[in-house]
Amino acid sequence: MKNKLFDITDKVIVVSGATGVLAGGVARYLADNGARVVFLGRNAQKLEEAGRFLEANGYDGLVCSCDVLDRTAVEVVRESVLKRWGRVDVLVNGAGGNMAGAVIQPDQSFFDLDVEAWNSVFSLNLRGTLIPTLVFGKCFESEKKGCIVNFSSMSAQQVITRVLGYSNAKAAVDNLTKWLAVEFAKKIGEGVRVNAVAPGFFISEQNRTLLTNPDGSLTSRGHDIIKNTPFGRFGESEEVCGAVHYLCSDASKFVTGTVLAIDGGFSCFSGV
Ligand SMILES: NC(=O)c1ccc[n+]([C@@H]2O[C@H](COP(=O)([O-])OP(=O)(O)OC[C@H]3O[C@@H](n4cnc5c(N)ncnc54)[C@H](O)[C@@H]3O)[C@@H](O)[C@H]2O)c1
Repeated sequence: MKNKLFDITDKVIVVSGATGVLAGGVARYLADNGARVVFLGRNAQKLEEAGRFLEANGYDGLVCSCDVLDRTAVEVVRESVLKRWGRVDVLVNGAGGNMAGAVIQPDQSFFDLDVEAWNSVFSLNLRGTLIPTLVFGKCFESEKKGCIVNFSSMSAQQVITRVLGYSNAKAAVDNLTKWLAVEFAKKIGEGVRVNAVAPGFFISEQNRTLLTNPDGSLTSRGHDIIKNTPFGRFGESEEVCGAVHYLCSDASKFVTGTVLAIDGGFSCFSGV
């Protein structure tokens, strides 16, 4: 008999930030594995590409332009999804990231912090996870079934210098993941699980200038990261897919409240 533990065929999976490098790769991977994927994002060009990807492969999916910070807009997406398939099985909260203005520059200190930029980055990562969870979690509550995968970061549990707002927000995402895992298990039951993935360092638009120079060589920060990653390299975006697949399939049926590192050993290495 075929083993169904990892089967995600026909699961309705909403992926926010699906216009980005990591969550976009995850969204395409899930669709390639038979899921009905809702690509949710803000970048019109990337959404068009996602639409072409679905069409070219004959996949049953949806593309929705939506700001995750706008609760009404997220509710409109939920209604479209329910109209199309009558249910939602999984929410992947991939929208997030850092912003240039929220990074403390090498010649600055904490006291130069741009509080508005700190607030924006905190809001995108924490409220941007909270709001879709409030909206789609309602479906999970009524069905007593569903699964949430959040995106954390290495900066949540250890100090990564300069990225204060991002670190604060991702630490809060870890806490939210655990808090909701307990809340949903106790109030709804074991059918609703909440976990997170914590990618190590992957080159994306938001961190490219922090990690690499215009000629492609590493910045000194990029060097420090590689030095502290036992695998000695950055991650490849497709290396996040398997962890998300596991967390949204029955293979992780007894797993909730966990934050799974995908980091080439960065988080367990003392540097010595
Ligand atoms: N790249 C890394 O090294 C890394 C490491 C750890 C964690 N992460 C996290 O992984 C997730 C995906 O990151 P990525 O590297 O793919 O980044 P990315 O910048 O390539 O993708 C993020 C996507 O989110 C979208 N987005 C931003 N604000 C939005 C909003 N308000 N509403 C809807 N969509 C919005 C952006 O348009 C973008 O397409 C993020 O949460 C990020 O913090 C990334």
